Amino acid sequence: MVKHLLISGASGLLGINLSLEALQDYKVYGTAHDRVVDVDNLSFVKTDLLEPDSLQRLFDWAEPDCFIHCAALTNVDLCEEQPELAHNLNGELPGLIAQETHRLGINFIHISTDAVFDGLRGGYIETDIPNPQNVYARTKLEAESAVAAANPDAIVARVNFYGWSMSGDRSLAEFFFNNLQAGKQVTGFEDVFFCPLLANDLAKFLLEMLERGLHGLYHVVGSQALSKYEFGVRLARQFHLDENLITPVSVHSAGLSAPRSPNLTLRTEKLAQDLGRDIPGVSTGLHRLSTLYQQGYPQQLRNLLVAD
Ligand SMILES: NC(=O)c1ccc[n+]([C@@H]2O[C@H](COP(=O)([O-])OP(=O)(O)OC[C@H]3O[C@@H](n4cnc5c(N)ncnc54)[C@H](OP(=O)(O)O)[C@@H]3O)[C@@H](O)[C@H]2O)c1
Repeated sequence: MVKHLLISGASGLLGINLSLEALQDYKVYGTAHDRVVDVDNLSFVKTDLLEPDSLQRLFDWAEPDCFIHCAALTNVDLCEEQPELAHNLNGELPGLIAQETHRLGINFIHISTDAVFDGLRGGYIETDIPNPQNVYARTKLEAESAVAAANPDAIVARVNFYGWSMSGDRSLAEFFFNNLQAGKQVTGFEDVFFCPLLANDLAKFLLEMLERGLHGLYHVVGSQALSKYEFGVRLARQFHLDENLITPVSVHSAGLSAPRSPNLTLRTEKLAQDLGRDIPGVSTGLHRLSTLYQQGYPQQLRNLLVAD
């Protein structure tokens, strides 16, 4: 029998790419808050996950075997402005989902972030001690602890990813691509380092982790570290765009309201070992990003968004 997979945040950057990937093997049930998506064979419902009883209604509707929780308040600066909402959605809700999935025997993946670390050192492994630097990161770490306590079988995946989104402007890759293609000057942080993974590849890893019955904390990011500036340059080269339009700047010059961690590079040996395969690096991901572009994938994604 085909298994049911419930994906919260199915309109988001990860959620939509994951939903499309999962449709090959699962009956997929997607949720979002405001936006509506229309995907063949995907059952979709709009719901505010913070409403009482919304979880119970979702479980009754989808009867899931598996649940991947992608919904979150992801705007880091908005989290500073609305710490209570960030706490409720990012910090508390995942623990409640973990409790319910444990009680009902549903396989659960909670999506966390590389930003739980202070970024002073980089190269973090799963057993390193987090030290979050802003409201977003603190609430995401709060959730990690709540999920692990409520559901020891759950997977907590710390991620960082880029890709094509339905809005066309959701990821760092789209930021560089859109501006460079329009011939516009942009800046890229030369002192913020990360290990980005293509959302489509992340989706495959998450589904494989489910299938393999893994549990516990995993770093699910790309295998190569680089600065955000370098990422822009590599993307420009991949798409034959003008890399000289990108000016390297310091994050300190950007006037961002929430403090950012400078070096969020994570190590992925645990995942590679438990899955028995290599984790893609930057070139592989950017090459696939460009193949998807040539196949018209960004436009296909935009067509899935139902106008209000
Ligand atoms: N993007 C990254 O590089 C990155 C890095 C590290 C970790 N992460 C984590 O990865 C996960 C997915 O991120 P993303 O970038 O794909 O997110 P996103 O594009 O911002 O999408 C967020 C999703 O959450 C939904 N949502 C927001 N509030 C909700 C509510 N009250 N009830 C129900 N649904 C709600 C949104 O619905 P609407 O669209 O209808 O508003 C949307 O589907 C998050 O846990 C995030 O913390 C992301």
